[in-house]
Amino acid sequence: MTPRIHVLTGAGAGIGRALAAMLLSRGDTVVTVARSAARADEVRADLADAGPGELVVEVADLGDVAQVERLGAEIAQAHPRIDSLVHCAGVVELGRVADLDTASWLSQLNVNLTAPALLCRDLMTNLRLAHATVVMVNSGAGRVANPDWAGYAASKHGLRALADALRAEEAGTGVRVTSVYPSRTATDMQAKVHLQEGRPYRAADWMQPSSVAASVLHVLDLPVDATIPDLTIRTST
Ligand SMILES: NC(=O)c1ccc[n+]([C@@H]2O[C@H](COP(=O)([O-])OP(=O)(O)OC[C@H]3O[C@@H](n4cnc5c(N)ncnc54)[C@H](OP(=O)(O)O)[C@@H]3O)[C@@H](O)[C@H]2O)c1
Repeated sequence: MTPRIHVLTGAGAGIGRALAAMLLSRGDTVVTVARSAARADEVRADLADAGPGELVVEVADLGDVAQVERLGAEIAQAHPRIDSLVHCAGVVELGRVADLDTASWLSQLNVNLTAPALLCRDLMTNLRLAHATVVMVNSGAGRVANPDWAGYAASKHGLRALADALRAEEAGTGVRVTSVYPSRTATDMQAKVHLQEGRPYRAADWMQPSSVAASVLHVLDLPVDATIPDLTIRTST
């Protein structure tokens, strides 16, 4: 397969890191983003041996819309043709509606929903040129909103709406849009959720990030005549 260019947020950890390693190992280019220059250096060092592919790490905080707009413009200019855009970066803050602070609402809505929307908008010309695949890494919380999960679930319900509208808008342009719904996955985010839930965390109890990444890779590698609009992946036990 010809090496391809993927814009992948959240390649520094968890599911995104696993996917970046898979793409780099087969020689593809991965353009990702880290929230600071120091974090960018760590991500470069961490993925240095992943394979022959090129890793480009831009610096932007996805919680800051002005930085996201700058990022989108820079990537659009540097990479005229983009084969996939994978929105994997995400944040979670549990809390009841009566208690959840403003910063937690804004960070979840900005990182999980607004940043994907702005990057889709600003990269759409580049995506259309390559008949690209857009993947939104969603969550079970994008379908069901449980107590304590309002902020995260609202952002992920919004992400589902973004994917559904975009899919319909881009029908006929060659751009395919997939929402991926993983259940609990053994990452830093899941460890944090357990802490906030006051439960002990054991990574071995949950699906591994590489399992979710392999599913996303399958979506990215579909022939142009096929698409998977929604993909649910769950722990088998
Ligand atoms: N883990 C689960 O159980 C689970 C289940 C369902 C869905 N998901 C979804 O799967 C996706 C990946 O989650 P994960 O579990 O792999 O999470 P993770 O291990 O916490 O990794 C999240 C990644 O997003 C990046 N990120 C977060 N906020 C950012 C910001 N403001 N600017 C730039 N980068 C930022 C993080 O950067 P740093 O490395 O610098 O922190 C990290 O690389 C998320 O969308 C999540 O909602 C996760």
